[in-house]
Amino acid sequence: MGGMVAGATHSYLTATRPTPPNSTAPDTSPATPPSPPSASPPVARATNPAPPGLFAPPRGDLRLAVISDLNSQYGSTTYEAEVLRTVAYLPQWEPDLVLCSGDMVAGQFPSLTRAEIEAMWSAFDRTIAQAIRRAKLPYGFTIGNHDASGALGINGTELFAQERELAKAYWLSHADTGVNFVDKAGFPYFYTFAQKFARGSEEVFFLVWDASTSRIPPEQLTWAEQALASDRAQKAKLRIVTGHLPLYAVAVGREFLGEIVENGDRVRQMLEKYRVHTYISGHHHAYYPAHKGTLQLLHSGALGSGARPLLSSRLPVTKTLTIVDISLDKADTVYTTYNMTTQEVIDIKTLPRLIVGPNGYVLRRDVEESDLTPAEKSAEFSG
Ligand SMILES: [Fe+2]
Repeated sequence: MGGMVAGATHSYLTATRPTPPNSTAPDTSPATPPSPPSASPPVARATNPAPPGLFAPPRGDLRLAVISDLNSQYGSTTYEAEVLRTVAYLPQWEPDLVLCSGDMVAGQFPSLTRAEIEAMWSAFDRTIAQAIRRAKLPYGFTIGNHDASGALGINGTELFAQERELAKAYWLSHADTGVNFVDKAGFPYFYTFAQKFARGSEEVFFLVWDASTSRIPPEQLTWAEQALASDRAQKAKLRIVTGHLPLYAVAVGREFLGEIVENGDRVRQMLEKYRVHTYISGHHHAYYPAHKGTLQLLHSGALGSGARPLLSSRLPVTKTLTIVDISLDKADTVYTTYNMTTQEVIDIKTLPRLIVGPNGYVLRRDVEESDLTPAEKSAEFSG
């Protein structure tokens, strides 16, 4: 990765509210200015809701709050300060949907007993889910490896069958997550839902699959193709897919094939074929807003334990939450990502311009192929 941006200056925008008129917009590439006033009837919503003292981006026509990797150490029934702060703040961003890209509890540890696993889900419910339900925020999520790993043993049996069973039991007893389900037959492991924009009748179609391991089950990929090809999905303004593991590696210690979706390039091409706008993932514990081909890739940072450095950078680790504002007119997204330790907004320009992993590179979302320098074009994976 010589000649790249290792050693990039690290800086943050200062969190202020309200937005100064000439301030540099955080992480808004490709630039998507706020939508012009609409002729639709006004909706009684704040234009830039945010927790007091934090940067307050203009809200889109549909706002997601993306959280990820909430767990502490194995077996833990407590959550770190950044998780608790985020949960307390969530209603103040007034999101239309809270989307969690996995790892809500701290399993994937063979000696955990049934009682210990149940205690973790009770703690998740008490500490996180109840607050989200009380605020009447729809909650979409994908299962992570620490929730219910789908890892298989050599004889094809599930290594974490008890965790799978108990995660499913928890979610089936809390199945009304407030989202508008389209197909919930595979809930909580794979399902689809659709959320309407604040104005008009159009919607965003969401597909959740089980990428708790690098191998998404083939039958689930077939199901996903059929779901994405459906009229409902294709008529939606945008399609968003979420799974725990990303398609490409972005973090130190996660730059191995087992830590990303198998055949990531091929999976990306399938998503592109059905005009999926964004794939949202967790697991790498490092925020990186990327794109490749025509697919946006939102690598969510962790809020719980174990934040990781980005590959090809010397930046300090961060625990983040990303607000995604979706414009109905542009059918595009704007990210505002907060470092939930300092509560400052992360400036996309401080992040590496591209990251090269074992199955290829991804570009920062404001960087195009044509912007790459010769050194960047020849950058190779150094893992
Ligand atoms: Fe994970």
